[in-house]
Parts: sequence; C-alpha cells; structure tokens
Amino acid sequence: MKSVLALIACPLAVLAASIPRDVEAVPSGPFSAGAWKIAQGTDVFFFGTAINATGGKFYINRDTSTYCPEGVSGLDCTAYSGSGTSFAIGNVYVAPDGSLSYTQAHSASMPSGSIVTGFSREQSQAFGAPIYLYSANLSWYLCPVTEGEPRERTYQIFASSEAPEGCYGTQVRTYTPGSGHVWQYA
Ligand SMILES: *[C@@H]1O[C@H](CO)[C@@H](O)[C@H](O)[C@H]1NC(C)=O
Ligand SMILES: *[C@@H]1O[C@H](CO)[C@@H](O)[C@H](O)[C@H]1NC(C)=O
Repeated sequence: MKSVLALIACPLAVLAASIPRDVEAVPSGPFSAGAWKIAQGTDVFFFGTAINATGGKFYINRDTSTYCPEGVSGLDCTAYSGSGTSFAIGNVYVAPDGSLSYTQAHSASMPSGSIVTGFSREQSQAFGAPIYLYSANLSWYLCPVTEGEPRERTYQIFASSEAPEGCYGTQVRTYTPGSGHVWQYA
C-alpha cells in the first residue's frame, strides 16, 4: 500500500508545482522564442528577434536549418517547410559549456553534465505581461559569434550563473508558434 501511495503522490506534486501563480494560464505545448534586450547604454538591443535552431544550438540573426528525410512513407515534406523554430521544454538543455542546446529528433542523447531541469514558462506581471522562458539558477546571454554591426551580427544563446566575457544579458520571451512547422532541426 505504501508504495502505491508514493506512486500517486509523485504526479500530484508535479501538478501542484506547475499550477501558474497568476490568473492567466501559460499555454502548454511547443512555443517559439525571441530575445529581448534593452540598450542599457550599448548599441545592442533586440525586441523579440527570433531565436532559431541550427546545428544543435540556438542563435539570433541566423537561419533555422531544417531537415526532412526523403522517401519516408506517409511523410509529406512540403508540410514542414517553415523557417521558424519551435521549442519544447523537454527537448532543450544547457550543455556543459553553457550553450543552450536541443536533442536531435528521435534521440535523447546529450553530453554528461548537461542541465535539463529548472526551465519553465512564466508570465511576467510587468510590461504587457510577456511569457518568458525562466531558468531557476541561470541567466540568459547573447554571445556574438560573427563580426558586424552590433544589431546585425549573429549571437549564440548561452545560459550561465555569471556573465560570460563579451556577452550581453538578455530576456527570452516565448510566443505561440506561427504556421510553418519543421520536421526536425539539422
Ligand atoms: C529565423 O526565424 C524566423 C521565424 O521565426 C524567420 O522569420 C527568420 O527569417 C529566420 N532567420 C533569421 C536570420 O532570423
Ligand atoms: C539550483 O542550484 C542549487 C544549488 O546549486 C541546486 O541545489 C538546485 O537543484 C538547482 N535547481 C535546479 C532547478 O536545477
């Protein structure tokens, strides 16, 4: 009897933790994300610039790279021709180097030492009540990976407890994904 109770108690605890604190419920399911960073005395500012996935990592000012396998019976690749990136909480993790990363479709493998827990979508009380991607212990950073104008170069998304050198703190806001889904990210 005791073990049965333990099994029942566990999902209840998960449910209780996921009940939003605010009146409006945060939508569940996949979402898209954008970087929000105010200038704070720099030339680097973004108001929802799309965060796109490519090569296992996330960037702004870089195209999504997508892959749809040819010749899979019943799979119509034209239905997955979108350019946007949608996220699912369970598919993202922070690699040991701090880079926000995603598991490849049909695979759960990730480097040991990766951080997979502590992410949630939370509704802010301020500034039009955006729904942002919250991390319990980490802050989000934009780290430049190309040269160029401050607002045009490519930045990679990192999560860290302290600011990596040369990077800018940012907020990650989340949105309901638009039409155009991708089969998987390459
Ligand atoms: C990134 O994704 C958005 C859609 O979410 C798309 O409009 C944009 O063209 C993509 N590429 C870049 C470089 O932002
Ligand atoms: C946050 O960090 C503390 C201390 O390192 C750790 O005990 C806790 O598990 C972390 N929380 C999450 C959600 O990862």
